[in-house]
Amino acid sequence: MPEHDSFEHDVIVIGAGGAGLRAAIEASAQGVSVGLICKSLLGKAHTVMAEGGMAAAIANVDERDNWKVHFSDTMRGGQYVNNWKMAELHAKEAPDRVRELEAWGAVFDRTPDGKILQRNFGGHKYPRLAHVGDRTGLEMIRTLQDHGIHQGIEVHMEVTVVALLKDGDRVAGALAYEREKGRFRVFKAKAVVLATGGVGRAFKISSNSWEYTGDGHSLAYHAGAELQDMEFVQFHPTGMVFPPSVRGILVTEGVRGEGGILKNNRGERFMFDDIPDLYKDQTADNPEEGWRYTQGDKSARRPPELLTRDHVARCIVREIREGRGSPNGGVFLDIAWIKEKRGDAEAHIKKKLPSMYHQFKQLADIDITKEPMEVGPTTHYMMGGIRVDAETQMSTIPGLFAAGECAVGLHGANRLGGNSLSDLLVFGKRAGEFAAKFAAENGGVTIDNAQVDDETKKALAPFEASRTENPYEIQADLQEMMQDKVGIVRKEEEMLEAVAEIGELWKRTANAKAPGNVEYNPGWHTALDLENLLTVSEAIARSAIERRESRGAQFREDYPEKKPELAKFNVVVKKAEDGSMEVSRATIPEIAPELSEIIKEMG
Ligand code: FUM
Repeated sequence: MPEHDSFEHDVIVIGAGGAGLRAAIEASAQGVSVGLICKSLLGKAHTVMAEGGMAAAIANVDERDNWKVHFSDTMRGGQYVNNWKMAELHAKEAPDRVRELEAWGAVFDRTPDGKILQRNFGGHKYPRLAHVGDRTGLEMIRTLQDHGIHQGIEVHMEVTVVALLKDGDRVAGALAYEREKGRFRVFKAKAVVLATGGVGRAFKISSNSWEYTGDGHSLAYHAGAELQDMEFVQFHPTGMVFPPSVRGILVTEGVRGEGGILKNNRGERFMFDDIPDLYKDQTADNPEEGWRYTQGDKSARRPPELLTRDHVARCIVREIREGRGSPNGGVFLDIAWIKEKRGDAEAHIKKKLPSMYHQFKQLADIDITKEPMEVGPTTHYMMGGIRVDAETQMSTIPGLFAAGECAVGLHGANRLGGNSLSDLLVFGKRAGEFAAKFAAENGGVTIDNAQVDDETKKALAPFEASRTENPYEIQADLQEMMQDKVGIVRKEEEMLEAVAEIGELWKRTANAKAPGNVEYNPGWHTALDLENLLTVSEAIARSAIERRESRGAQFREDYPEKKPELAKFNVVVKKAEDGSMEVSRATIPEIAPELSEIIKEMG
């Protein structure tokens, strides 16, 4: 048994994107000792892929905005299976969290009178996204990192957690390894915050980088926590499609927020063809009105390109399937057309969308100020996650908290763009605060050495000489299969096949081989990621089978309608005694009457 290094903190935070950093800052501010564990280098997080802005009803651009409208937009976008308490807390607290970020040094774009500028995004009734060009997530991470390093947080970089450790029912820490030397680390902690982000690498086309393998979801599940809403995977409508090496890279919704339009190969603005009843009141039915909205005309309705992501992604898939797609299997996204409308278009595009300008110029040799982009859906975000208490963010395991993308509740069946960054701040802060309280109010924990030994052995199993399977091939086969059978358009028959194939992939994973030794060995790391990827993939497929309807991000070709009776439930998965995955339904608590009133008021 190899030796391990030991660390002890009151609170450990696993994951150092926006939610993890914000949780670590808050826990540290409460006076407890905090360890922050990053799978990658500090600052390299999927948070930076929320480019277009963070949603908060600060009403700088449209004075009609307030928390009630934001709450009601979030519930409508999530098709009413959201945790309404989280939606309320988020809408109420997001403005303070954004202002706090500004006070910590975030340099937002400005209105002419010097306030934080806000832009339009899909599903938000008013311009609500505080932004920094198209680099908002990056600015958020930079600010939190700058602020965090002065808080006495101990940062553990390039360290991957392989198991949560328990003391009876309670969480007691984590077992991890360092990527560079392959040495194991035991972290002892009174409270643990999971902030590991999403599961995008379970799919072939994804905006997520290599780290996003569902680690937090899987760690929590195997430790006995419940996962919820795993059927709701967000396919962002606009990822790059060409050249093939960059397929899936995000093209921010900010392009459409600045007036970008979607067209098929006949030059038609196909988004006008299908406007859902739920959004008819807010959506323009002609291009001129849509443009007026983009330019701030308060009497105009939103262009249909700013419908919610689930719907826009499906319309794009329809165009491609019916032969109206672009040459490389996408559709056209055109921001250059605004030259017809404003003399300063080129400068405006370069100022508001600098990353998009450079991304397309450098990666695809396209000048977006002059020609349209080719785009198509890309796996971007996981609405499903660890079931937590709305106020404290504690999971069903005492001392185990979760925040951000790996937690569930706020977004329901479909997240509105920009609600992720404000989610990270609001619930990252809450998770940090309540984890610190838990650590202060509960006594110490004991590490179970037998569990450490077992988990270490399991982590080293890929080095067994008898093993033969290539972990990269297993991962590629899983991604291909999930994209085909549990992707944007789903049906029962294919998902049952997916579950069976995941069973086969589990068997192959038990035979996955890591060549070489533990020192900086990506093959070994991939073999270890497989357990997480398979766990979340199985949870996605089984939950999607259980929800026999179409709602938000889940579109079932065999059940194309929404079923009112299924608006009353969340789908939950849990590890059963025999190790199998148990699927059940949890009734959504009756919404508070005053919140129900707000939803009615907002139409
Ligand atoms: O399109 C975007 O800029 C992504 C934002 C988000 O996912 O919230």
